[in-house]
Amino acid sequence: MPRNGAAAGEPAARAERKAVAHRLLMCRPQYFDVTYSINPWMNPKKPTDAATALLQWEQLRELYLSLGHTVEVVEPVPGLPDMVFAANGATVVDGKVFGARFRHRERTAEGPAYLDWFAGHGFRELLWPEHINEGEGDYLRVGRRILAGTGFRTDSRSHAEAQEFFGLPVTGLTLVDPDFYHLDTALSVLAPDEIMYYPAAFSPGSRAVLREMFPDAVLATDQDAAVFGLNAFSDGLNVVLPQAATGLIARLKERGFNPIGVSLGELLKAGGSVKCCTLVLS
Ligand code: ARG
Repeated sequence: MPRNGAAAGEPAARAERKAVAHRLLMCRPQYFDVTYSINPWMNPKKPTDAATALLQWEQLRELYLSLGHTVEVVEPVPGLPDMVFAANGATVVDGKVFGARFRHRERTAEGPAYLDWFAGHGFRELLWPEHINEGEGDYLRVGRRILAGTGFRTDSRSHAEAQEFFGLPVTGLTLVDPDFYHLDTALSVLAPDEIMYYPAAFSPGSRAVLREMFPDAVLATDQDAAVFGLNAFSDGLNVVLPQAATGLIARLKERGFNPIGVSLGELLKAGGSVKCCTLVLS
């Protein structure tokens, strides 16, 4: 049988990879600071530099625009320093918006703030959820299914609620390492059937599920995970990720992706990076 280049089972070559243009939602870190600690990365005694945070965030926004994506911006609210982490604001699939209900009181006001934005921007199917869930921090869509984190933030009861709302299969995964408290800190979707993840962040059962579902996944080393390398955004070709994740950058190149390293060191002081700042609308 004639084959075009790659042998069967071989990862797609770069020429076969295609970037898909997305519509993204971000929130300028105007009121960014670390004034409380709700994850091990946050140390309120360590100074933050607001100007640097703004600059790094702006560079990420401009990078997305240069890659052909559309970026919407939600107005930041004073007193909500973590609102820059737009991924947590909701989960959007097929235009349906599953609202976020935060675990910690420091962030609870963000749920309604994000939902208001959706209500005012033409989104008609909105759900204010019953169970705690932190949006796309813990819900990641892979093709026509959804991977869902639990263990630190999102209540596992939310997974059934999301499955019912979206009508798509939701697979629950348990996180066990407090440094990787959201699914998007331990796993990243690269293409509709490809992911990369850090096995040690998951319970043994969840690791087995991931091996079963994605036998060819890119696995992150301790070093890549420790610099938040999995907190990445992929459009199917370009993968935007922290530049310090050099191991992942090499693996992604071998797989035919175009990894683009960025520096978001200020936001990392709050335990967030590329994907945390990015809510995928479509
Ligand atoms: N300081 C924030 C928190 O602990 C960081 C959120 C990061 N967002 C993410 N999608 N992982 O809630």
